[in-house]
Amino acid sequence: MNREGFQQTYGIIGKSPEMQEIVDVVQQVAPTDITVLISGESGTGKEIIAKAIHGASKRSQHALVPVNCGAIPEGLIESELFGHEKGAFTSAADMRRGYFEIADGGTIFLDEIGEMPLSTQVKLLRVLESGEYIRVGSSVARSTDARVIAATNKLLEYEVQQKHFRPDLYYRLRSVNIYLPPLRNRKEDIPSLVERFVKEISEKNKIQFGGFTDNATELLMSYSWPGNIRELRNTVESMLVLESGKRIDGYDVRKYLREQPSVLTERNLPVVSNKTVEQAERELIYRALVDLKSNIIEMKELLTGQLSGANDSQINHTQPHKGNGILTMDEMERRMISGSLDRNKGNRRLAAKELNISERTLYRKIKDFGLQ
Ligand SMILES: Nc1ncnc2c1ncn2[C@@H]1O[C@H](COP(=O)(O)OP(=O)(O)OP(=O)(O)O)[C@@H](O)[C@H]1O
Ligand SMILES: [Mg+2]
Repeated sequence: MNREGFQQTYGIIGKSPEMQEIVDVVQQVAPTDITVLISGESGTGKEIIAKAIHGASKRSQHALVPVNCGAIPEGLIESELFGHEKGAFTSAADMRRGYFEIADGGTIFLDEIGEMPLSTQVKLLRVLESGEYIRVGSSVARSTDARVIAATNKLLEYEVQQKHFRPDLYYRLRSVNIYLPPLRNRKEDIPSLVERFVKEISEKNKIQFGGFTDNATELLMSYSWPGNIRELRNTVESMLVLESGKRIDGYDVRKYLREQPSVLTERNLPVVSNKTVEQAERELIYRALVDLKSNIIEMKELLTGQLSGANDSQINHTQPHKGNGILTMDEMERRMISGSLDRNKGNRRLAAKELNISERTLYRKIKDFGLQ
């Protein structure tokens, strides 16, 4: 199949050199059993690429089993992945098959692999090397023929340095590393993505689309899209629904952007192609710094609000501060989490993404802070 046909089959939009190179690699690796690591910021299309690899493989008639390593509590992850025997632990009333067993003959998609606990990483390495695993509570090794695709929006090399990720597993995983550059570095893909989303959303919701002014298109092209393609899609959807039928201009677009253009310049990186992993890593570091900066700004705002609004009833709640007007770290954290949950209407997955912590960590903190 040629590249265009392939992209059409799997709904992968984009003709930028970066996207073309990615699609070529996907087409080359799909028919093999090679383990693939897909990295890139949130919303860049890691899942869509994983689906294409599975769909174009000889395993496509079998299951593609997605596992979000960041959402499973640490104590349960091994029994979820490898299964358990009856009575293996208190709540194990019955034997349960694990995802590796279910994915036999197919593909297992280990999303957010950077969140996998170290003790489980050893076991994953064993499956990758020998195809063998052991159910929790058993001593019998079983084998599986599951192809592994892993994804991460973390900088795994950094996780290795921090001793959160095993180097041997990292090297094993990155033999084929598909890096998806952020949308701001392949802006030429924006118009075709917008066109596709407009078509899909207006057909699905039976909405009349009145078109974009040049100004609106320019703004969509110059915005940095920190949430990448997911954010672009959501923005187009909101605009189509709420501005239904009218010609959308720059002013309208601006209302739907998460950040105002003054912040954009900071995120507007020079265009980097996906030539080397080092470049990719540099970008992820840059991104982490930008996130860190915005966290600091948010903390400063919280503190300023605290100091200037001592009578603000909003600030009066349990365990407020140390009596000197300064919030404790715990309290600041609690507020950031509660604010993020409010902004995301209680959606924990979105809140975890916004806070750049794993869902598991968020669950724990919600519990610790009694936020539910
Ligand atoms: N190249 C693309 N063409 C068309 N749609 C895309 C493309 N890339 C991503 N999308 C769409 O953007 C959304 C986000 O993509 P996806 O879920 O694959 O991102 P992700 O990298 O897995 O994000 P996360 O790290 O947050 O899980 C989905 O709706 C997906 O269909
Ligand atoms: Mg994903």
